Amino acid sequence: QKHYSIAIDGPAGAGKSTIAKLVAKELQFIYVDTGAMYRAIGLLAVKEGIDSNEEELLGAAVKKADISLKYEDSRQQIYLNGENVTDDIRTEEAGKMASAVAKAKAVREKMVDIQKGIAESSDVIMDGRDIGTVVLPFADLKVYLTADAKVRAERRFKELTEKGISCNIEEIEKDIIARDYQDMNRAVSPLKKAEDAVALDCSSMTIEEVAASIIQLFQKAV
Ligand code: C5P
Repeated sequence: QKHYSIAIDGPAGAGKSTIAKLVAKELQFIYVDTGAMYRAIGLLAVKEGIDSNEEELLGAAVKKADISLKYEDSRQQIYLNGENVTDDIRTEEAGKMASAVAKAKAVREKMVDIQKGIAESSDVIMDGRDIGTVVLPFADLKVYLTADAKVRAERRFKELTEKGISCNIEEIEKDIIARDYQDMNRAVSPLKKAEDAVALDCSSMTIEEVAASIIQLFQKAV
């Protein structure tokens, strides 16, 4: 049976996950947040005291680890070795750790396998950095979502502040730029626009506008 798939890639804080959730709801697809999986591996490295540059140690730890996704009222829950870590991975620190461990080939191989498996059995909208290029090369629609770094920093600042987390906007912007640089310049599966992806700059669009245009693009594509 053919399953539909939409790939969303782009830099940190472009609004990928918020938009993908809306689209998933509308189309009744499963939303797969692949960044959460790399964040969980970052957490694993911290817990086991493994430096992200120790590729072999990291590879061995990841091989043993049980990373699984479950869905509760269509909200993705991520489990690391049986423990629900969905909330623990949302900090800026976890994002940095994720980007550091995501450079490792062994980490990526295992995550990509799990992601491909999910797409084989469901209609999915998946967001990340290598979805259109590596995970779902035959996706029905690929979108490369960007926004100005200042705009992304402002959105992240607002999101964290609303959650009661104190933060500094300049610092957030600096972190975002550093993380993008690292993601775009790694050797394995760097962040880049797939040739056949539609580029959408959403700096001056609302979340709803972006979601609506993705749905329209998908309907045109299939
Ligand atoms: O999307 P999110 O900010 O949660 O991703 C955290 C980090 O995980 C990214 O900065 C990136 O290094 C890594 N990642 C990746 N490939 C993906 C998704 C995320 O390398 N498909």
